[in-house]
Amino acid sequence: MVSARSAKRVLCVVGARPNFMKIAPVMRALNAAGNRLDARLLHTGQHYDAAMKQSFFEQLRIPEPDIDLGVGSASHAVQTAEIMKRFEPVVDELKPDAVLVVGDVNSTIACALVAVKKQVPVIHVEAGLRSGDRTMPEEINRVLTDQISDLLFTTERDGEINLLREGVDAARVHFVGNVMIDTLLYNLEEAVPFAETIKVYVKGKPVSNFSSGYGLVTLHRPGNVDDPVVLDRLLRTLVMLSEAKPLIFPVHPRTMQCIRRAGLEHLMSGANLLALPPLGYLNMLGLMKDASVVLTDSGGIQEETTALGVPCLTLRENTERPVTVSEGTNTIVGSDPDKIALCFTDVMETGGKVGRVPEYWDGRAAERIALVVENWLC
Ligand code: UD1
Repeated sequence: MVSARSAKRVLCVVGARPNFMKIAPVMRALNAAGNRLDARLLHTGQHYDAAMKQSFFEQLRIPEPDIDLGVGSASHAVQTAEIMKRFEPVVDELKPDAVLVVGDVNSTIACALVAVKKQVPVIHVEAGLRSGDRTMPEEINRVLTDQISDLLFTTERDGEINLLREGVDAARVHFVGNVMIDTLLYNLEEAVPFAETIKVYVKGKPVSNFSSGYGLVTLHRPGNVDDPVVLDRLLRTLVMLSEAKPLIFPVHPRTMQCIRRAGLEHLMSGANLLALPPLGYLNMLGLMKDASVVLTDSGGIQEETTALGVPCLTLRENTERPVTVSEGTNTIVGSDPDKIALCFTDVMETGGKVGRVPEYWDGRAAERIALVVENWLC
């Protein structure tokens, strides 16, 4: 890392779990960029549990953050406001030449908004994704962050089309590929095999029925887990599907809270549905790589399954990552139990969609980003 002030200082922001795999290659590439950039890392503290934060820093070898704002959980308004309040003095003190944000979480918009009002240029990695669904908090964060960004890096061709439609100057937009896939390719050989993960995370439950194939589940979107009726229906559907193919379900903390609040823990204890705590990146990668099918409402997992060639059923009505459907292995299924069962059976019978890896998902997106940032700032 360069400490001389002659280097251009880029303050990189992370906050929530899906940010960590995006920032790892970006930090590496910025700090390797011919000694002309000085990348610093700030964690807002949006995600703070060891399983949601520290294990990712360790497994992905992300340097400890230079600054931790320690905001924690709260309502969207309080969390966003708190990040802004705590971020402003950091910008005053560090005087970055640019603030770099990734993804679409509350930390992304909060820090971008502070920076732009202080006339510090904003760089957005993973710009231009649109689900068209403004009931999703992430969609609001995406639209607003892109409007106030000076440099926008897109992961798929549709991103630029969306940005131009919203009046963003084409000169600011760079199609570079997908930094999440940089991380996946970089770490693939170290992915932890199923048997190892089970040894660490499962105690006292027989798991022999999982060794001849399994599906992998993740769920955390408010639209799927906040309403007890919707959650009950989804969990019953999973229990039913698990009779045909055992399912492994690492449970996000917000989902676990919703399950407890709705009194639905009994649905999580079936012999063929294995509930686990949130997993480390390399553990999740190992499970995903070898899964027969993945059922998810995550954005990143739609991309990772496409890169791995594993069939993915997305339990949402839309996606902001259409290339995973048009080219990849993703199918948008929604949350209707019959439709989910139909698509699941189809994957079991046919092996599922065979996709191809999208353009520039080649492990070098962060290098392209660093090159553009360096030329732009220096
Ligand atoms: C956030 C992102 C979402 C992303 C997800 C990945 C926003 C608006 N949403 O959603 O886009 O897909 O992260 O995980 O930024 N909690 C813990 N421990 C933690 C963090 C959270 O227990 O370390 C619990 C808290 O009860 C908290 C709840 O999870 O209230 C939700 O956390 P929050 O960061 O608000 O949103 P996520 O649902 O995690």
